[in-house]
Amino acid sequence: MKFLQNAWYCAGWDYQLSQGRDAMLARKIAGKRILVYRKLGGQVVAMEDQCPHRQAALSLGRREGDAIRCMYHGLKFEADGQCSEIPNVEKVPEQICVRTYPVVEKDNWIWVWLGDPSKADPALICDAVGPGNTEYTTRPSYIQIDANYLLENANLADLSHSSFTHDNTIAMGWAQALAKPEHKILPRGIKTDYWVRNVALPKFVQHLFPPGFMCDANFDITQTYPCNWILHFRVFSAGTATEGESNGQLVLDSYSCQAVTPRDEGSVDYYYSWGVSKQTEQPGLADTLKEGLDQAFTEDKAMLEGQQVRLRENPDFKQMGIGPADAGPAKMLRVINELIEAEEREASQQAANA
Ligand code: FES
Ligand SMILES: [Fe+2]
Repeated sequence: MKFLQNAWYCAGWDYQLSQGRDAMLARKIAGKRILVYRKLGGQVVAMEDQCPHRQAALSLGRREGDAIRCMYHGLKFEADGQCSEIPNVEKVPEQICVRTYPVVEKDNWIWVWLGDPSKADPALICDAVGPGNTEYTTRPSYIQIDANYLLENANLADLSHSSFTHDNTIAMGWAQALAKPEHKILPRGIKTDYWVRNVALPKFVQHLFPPGFMCDANFDITQTYPCNWILHFRVFSAGTATEGESNGQLVLDSYSCQAVTPRDEGSVDYYYSWGVSKQTEQPGLADTLKEGLDQAFTEDKAMLEGQQVRLRENPDFKQMGIGPADAGPAKMLRVINELIEAEEREASQQAANA
């Protein structure tokens, strides 16, 4: 399985990385083992999680100021990756070092750039509403799913599955299965913006509204590589408009921001949130949304892991197209494929010119 190198990958929520004595994240991102920790000033360091001596995990090491000491034979590495001390050796050879990666913290997520550092443009990081945004009350969460990131992309690029996989939680009846949203191609993903009208609320919140309450809902989604999925989700009481903005009353203005990072070819780390605007918030609502999403993603986990098991058993399986449900996934997977091919072409050109 291929991964883009010149890309930002989410390495976690900022709250997962404290300044504690043992606060180190051992991540696997697109097949690379990476240690993430904070310097004394709070700045995040991402470093190859492998000692150049005998491959010990540096994440089993010890923080010493801004540096990390390998706790196998004591080599010490500064935050720039250079080895600065070898016990019982007077002069440290310069070539003893580990690779470090550019890091940016944005919207309460930690982002690591795997490829050429000169191309690490923070403008390529997706725009999200994080828990720190004061206009929304947001609850963050996490799940590991043992399925590859392409299955995840296909899952999120088409919400028709919601009507079935999430029947008991976040589905809006069959509305999403019957919708035919347009998916616009972006340089690194797709944009999907559509309405469902005069439909029932998801079951997990129906008890909060009068029986039979019907709504109009807008899904405004931007999905970008590797599988960053930003949803602006608004719900109105059902109005009479059949096109454009609903003329009902706004009952929920929310963002669900999701960063799915491939660990390797069989699993992903999934960092997600749901946040409600101050305008439509009520005590306990943000927690309810998080609980609903936690349940829903457990449903996705079962479905996706079942697919991954069968994919391993039948690697040559050819899927059968069924039409609308495949449109978004086909576009998103094509964009990913084209990005990877372009990067491979550039790398082979550079190698030829060298
Ligand atoms: S493996 Fe790290 S010091 Fe030996
Ligand atoms: Fe889902």
